[in-house]
Amino acid sequence: MTKEFQQADLSGRNSFHVKQRAARLVEFETADDLRALFAAGIPDRWMVLAGGNNVLFTCDYDGLLLTPVSQKIEVTEDDGERVRVRVDAGVEWDDLVEWAVRRGLWGIENLSLIPGKAGAAPVQNIGAYGREAKDVIERVEMYCVESGSMLTLDAAHCEFGYRESVFKHALKGRVVITAVEIALTRTPQPHLGYGDVEREVAARGGATLRNIREAIIAIRRTKLPDTAELGNAGSFFKNPIVDQPVAERLKTEWPDMPLYPAQEPGKAKLAAGWLIDKAGMKGYREGRVGVHERQALVLVNLGGATGGEVIALARKVQTAVRDRFGVEIDTEVNIL
Ligand code: EPU
Repeated sequence: MTKEFQQADLSGRNSFHVKQRAARLVEFETADDLRALFAAGIPDRWMVLAGGNNVLFTCDYDGLLLTPVSQKIEVTEDDGERVRVRVDAGVEWDDLVEWAVRRGLWGIENLSLIPGKAGAAPVQNIGAYGREAKDVIERVEMYCVESGSMLTLDAAHCEFGYRESVFKHALKGRVVITAVEIALTRTPQPHLGYGDVEREVAARGGATLRNIREAIIAIRRTKLPDTAELGNAGSFFKNPIVDQPVAERLKTEWPDMPLYPAQEPGKAKLAAGWLIDKAGMKGYREGRVGVHERQALVLVNLGGATGGEVIALARKVQTAVRDRFGVEIDTEVNIL
């Protein structure tokens, strides 16, 4: 079943709450819905708008937006220890985490409270507190727009990296993700090594699934603004990956600078939030936009801002970091 909107108001469909419109927006459930939609021809401009949590509209969208609304979570295999789960693209990611925690299934508890839909999780390989979606994703199901057929891609072919996947590159604009298959386990596998997680979990009585979920939720709530109250898209910037000698030079100059290993050899990952903070931009406000006062990676719409105002602030933040540290920080958010 599809539901179609013309000149759709996007303000309730993007977490920045910018007031733009889309010429056409279709909520879809199944691959057959997509087949019927594209049967009339592939529109010149189309894209998927899932939860709208990682997008900034700077103008009206003059094409077709597709929003998955299918809601099924289904166990496809259970050997008593490992449990395979197929999740429709339209399921809210955090509803899936709650579903898993209730059933005693480990694997995604550190990814609690990440806003957005399950179908979007593989696109930017969502991650938090030392875990990433790629740690559990086994397969991604998608509809190929050009061929009109379904395709299932194994994780090995998804080219997952830090906030990266094949869906942002070779498959961008060619497929619509319809479901994600993940593997969870009944064997406890607590990952408490990141930041305050261990302390917050201990304060709740130890490493149970429920305690980890609650600890992560509490940590996120202290740092990240609630999109219902303050428009934002989570981290606006990616943590920059630099050559090891650059990281070492900066570390000598700024000994308290956080430094993380990167997946690529010879590289290191810096904390963009720290760089922005130390460049003096944390809490900076300009008109209707600002840099969040508790997490400098997050840009916020203080009320009624346009996408253009957010971009102007983002450029200012990037310039401040470049001037202070000589490091480029790229945007994580999809800017349209
Ligand atoms: N920091 C500061 N000032 C700030 C922000 C951070 O000094 O304003 C320092 C922190 O003290 C810490 C380091 O920077 O030493 C890293 O900060 P944090 O642990 O908050 O994580 P992050 O690298 O800023 C990333 C993700 C978040 C995720 C957290 C926790 C990216 C772009 N962001 O942020 O993801 O929740 O780690 O794992 O990788 C998102 O993608 O939308 C998001 C919120």
